[in-house]
Amino acid sequence: MNRINNKRVVGTKRVVTNTDLKREVNYDSFGGWAISKELFDWIFKNIPKGSTILELGSGNGTKELVKFYNVYSVEHDIEWVDLVPDSKYIYAPLVDGWYDVEILKTELPTNYNLLLIDGPIGENRVNIINNYEMFKTDIPIIIDDTNRENDKNMSIFLSEKLNKNITSSIICEDKKTFTILH
Ligand SMILES: C[S@@+](CC[C@H](N)C(=O)[O-])C[C@H]1O[C@@H](n2cnc3c(N)ncnc32)[C@H](O)[C@@H]1O
Repeated sequence: MNRINNKRVVGTKRVVTNTDLKREVNYDSFGGWAISKELFDWIFKNIPKGSTILELGSGNGTKELVKFYNVYSVEHDIEWVDLVPDSKYIYAPLVDGWYDVEILKTELPTNYNLLLIDGPIGENRVNIINNYEMFKTDIPIIIDDTNRENDKNMSIFLSEKLNKNITSSIICEDKKTFTILH
């Protein structure tokens, strides 16, 4: 094991400790349009560092995820594409309220360890009920904003279709809720 700037490293990868987490994560990135800090903390605790995350909907929260994970961001709005250089963006404009499926079919990665559903924008998100088959689903799935009735119903629909349990619905400080399907 080596030490760089007094931090433990294995090969070229830094070993992340909880102290490092406090120092390195910018908690100001969370909330509002972005994932909540509670959602980030759940990922940090439950998904091994270095894993691959596919997120639907990108934003300031992506800046923090890329510090610890390999992130693919599906994004419908060009204004939000490439905000975070370390994420691999899949620019897929909306067609009939869902990401252009022709683009998704060719661009989605084949392997990832977490699916984070936080897009597309607004009511369109529920359209995943007609499109979930193009995603890997034998992994944990997080659905953000399930305090909204439509998104809550969508999470229940997916849990039934995918034969997954809703392991928790976590209410955040700002009263937003996210749901984890296992
Ligand atoms: C809920 S946001 C996704 C947030 C992202 N998962 C994050 O943690 O930052 C859904 C969509 O809103 C847009 N968006 C992201 N951040 C935004 C912001 N701060 N203000 C307005 N729109 C935003 C993007 O097009 C994004 O795909």
